[in-house]
This record gives sequence, C-alpha cells and structure tokens, in this order.
Amino acid sequence: MDGNKLYIKGPQRMHGELLVQGSKNAALPILAATVLGKGIFIIHHCPRISDVKHMLELLEDAGCRIHWEGHMLIVDTRELCNYRVSCGGAGKMRSTVTLLGSILGRMHQVEIPYPGGCTIGKRPIDLHLKGLEQLGAVFEHQEHTLYGSAQMLHGAQVYLDFPSVGATENVLLAAVLAEGTTVLHGAAMEPEIVELASFLRKMGADITGDGNPVITVKGVSKLHAAEYIIPSDRIVAGTYLFGAVMTRGEVRLLHVPISHLGHLPELLEQMGAVVEAEEDWIHVRMERQCRPIPYMVTAPFPGFPTDLQSALVAALSTASGTSFIEEKIFEARFQIVEELQKMGASVVSEDSFALMDGNAKLHGARVEAKELRGGAALIMAALAAEGETCISGMEYVCRGYEDINSDLKKLGIVV
Ligand code: UD1
Repeated sequence: MDGNKLYIKGPQRMHGELLVQGSKNAALPILAATVLGKGIFIIHHCPRISDVKHMLELLEDAGCRIHWEGHMLIVDTRELCNYRVSCGGAGKMRSTVTLLGSILGRMHQVEIPYPGGCTIGKRPIDLHLKGLEQLGAVFEHQEHTLYGSAQMLHGAQVYLDFPSVGATENVLLAAVLAEGTTVLHGAAMEPEIVELASFLRKMGADITGDGNPVITVKGVSKLHAAEYIIPSDRIVAGTYLFGAVMTRGEVRLLHVPISHLGHLPELLEQMGAVVEAEEDWIHVRMERQCRPIPYMVTAPFPGFPTDLQSALVAALSTASGTSFIEEKIFEARFQIVEELQKMGASVVSEDSFALMDGNAKLHGARVEAKELRGGAALIMAALAAEGETCISGMEYVCRGYEDINSDLKKLGIVV
C-alpha cells in the first residue's frame, strides 16, 4: 500500500487459511453499550479499524478511559461525565448514532453531531428518533448537532416501520435501563443484534426474543461491567469467499460463526464452488468459471446482505452468463459499477438494479474506492484481473478491514 492507494498485480489465485478479524458492526454498538454500566469492560477480538478508533475517541470524549493490549480492549467507564460527544470522530461514521440510546440511558441527556458514514444514499435516522421518543426521549435539532433528553425513560410498545439495524440497537440500548417493559415489534434480526443483546445480558440486562422480530426488554435499575468476545466479521469473511470464487481459489476461514453467514454457503455452491462448513469454519474451493445467478435481491437478515452486494456484482461480472441484482436496502449503492467498467466488466446499473452480462476478461486499471464495501470488492476484482490495478480511496476500506494487506498475504496473494 502506498498512502491511500493499493497496487495489485493480477491474476492471482487466493489460497490459504485465515483467522477472520472481529466484526465492525458487532463491535461498534457493543462499545456504545459500555457507557450503560459503571466499571471496567474487557472486550476481546476487537477489530483495530478506523471506525472503532473513532468510536473510542468519542467514548474518551465522554470521559471513558481506553487501553489496548493487542486485540483486547479495556474500556473504563467509571468516570464518564460528559453527555456531549463532539470530537473529530463523530460525523465521520454512521454508528455514532447508537450513542444516542446508550448515553441517554446513562445520563438522561445526549448531544451528538449528525452521524456520517459511507456515501451510500440517504441514511435518515427518523426510525431511531421515533423509537426513542416512544420511550420518553425528546429531541431538539440544532444546526450541526442533535440534542436529546429524557427525564425518565419508560418502557413502551415500539413499532419499527422497517427492521433498521441501528434503530433496533438504539431502542435496546435505551430500554435496558428504562422503567418497565419495552416490546419492540418489527426488530432487525441481524446477528449483530443478537451479539448486542448477549453483551447487554452479560451486563445484567433482561432481554428476550433477540434474533426474532419481537424483542422484549424488562428494564433493570443498574448494569455492571462485563467481558465479551467479538465474533468474527461475516462481511469480511464473505468478501474473501467471493475473492476465492473469482480467482478459482481455495480458502479456509476460521472463527467464522457459520450461522452469521445466512444463505451465503448455498449461494457459493450455486455459483459453482465446493463448500464445506462447520459451526465456526468454512472451506471454499472453486475450480471452474463462476456460474451466473439469474436474480438476487438484498434483504434484511437472513436475506442476502447489502454489505456483500458489491462483492457479488464483481464476482458475477466474471460469470458464464447473465446475472441480475436488485438492491433493496440502500439507494446509490452501485458505485462500484463504473469502476468495474474501467476494468472491462460488462455491467450496467439503473436505480436499484444492476445487470452483469458476465464473461468479462477483467484487466488492470486505475479505480477508486468510493465507499467501504465497494472498495473491498474492487480489491477482489483486481486479483482476478490481468495486469496491474491501482485502487485509490483505501481510507474507506480501512474503516472496516483491519489490515487487508496482511489478510491477502495469508491468503497467498503477493501485494
Ligand atoms: C447497518 C450496518 C450497515 C448495513 C446496514 C444494513 C452498522 C454499523 N452498519 O447500518 O453496514 O449495511 O445495517 O444491513 O451496523 N432507515 C431509515 N430511517 C432510519 C434508519 C434506517 O429510513 O431511521 C433506512 C436506511 O436509509 C436504509 C435502511 O433503512 O435504507 C436500512 O438501514 P439500517 O438497517 O438502519 O442500517 P444501519 O443501521 O445504518
């Protein structure tokens, strides 16, 4: 890697074994949750990615003390005193929004800058606010910041119009210390929700039903510190599995909770891979040209994850026929298409649809990562392409991939 650029000479076959890093989307809400209890938390297998670093800056801003030992993170929340988090990190990433629920829960008021995140379409927070308001919070929209307060948070029947991951997390975070019982209807069922609920239970919360559309939270008066192991990242795992498919490779990924992958193993088989998997590992071997997938739609878990859509677009551009993808979660999430075209792919997109003609002989090009997951997918495409590809915008990839260079090396790639 040279600055924010990565150079890859292809084609190269992915082969090898890798212990997959901790999950970004599990770690971030869990870190937000630490503020709900006073004490010293120990979080294992925490990914050292820029989004986590920004979240930790915010926790420090609120008065927490942070210490790393390898991938073990120690968060001391005993001195938390500031309900305003404003330092450089906020506004850069979307998941700061989960601090709304947790800081409100602990301090009864909160002020955060409007959340940022990847440039993948409009990302409103109306569902978060509506859910929190039903628990008794009141919000004031200021020019650059959002201020929330609640004299007392109380349990309620909360209905989400869409199973938003972040809104589900925020309601859980605010409900655990609320007075009375909250029943959240239409909750997201992503594995990260189950991880957050498991962590909160370790802190003393009373939560049932997570992983289902109805979650019940009985408020408790106090939460305590806890120790937790962050699971491996299902999206990072999926990215490399598509990399193996595209490069006719063979990879074994370890410490991956297979239940977190949903139907991905079956999809890889449909694409022509030989897949073996047990509870916490997966082995994928590809010996042929990828088969097309006539239609795939992104959907909330256990549907196909929007975060792997770009990697699927990249893989299917090399398939032996035409494939069609519909993006139903985010708008403007086909930014990879233009970049893949520069590499010789016959891909077009319009609105929420992308069509891959397949049979692309990808070639090296200068391409730009415009967001986190699309950037990682371009790296997978570069492995399959003939010649050198220069991928700029690697700072987006660093938001979620701790050390993609080192992962690629372990997977047999010369970078
Ligand atoms: C989380 C993940 C992200 C993933 C996404 C969908 C984290 C840190 N990020 O993002 O990687 O792509 O889930 O699986 O966990 N929406 C509204 N109003 C709201 C909230 C959401 O309209 O108040 C819409 C969004 O614009 C989007 C859809 O709902 O179209 C899904 O968003 P949501 O599930 O909330 O995603 P995030 O929690 O932001």
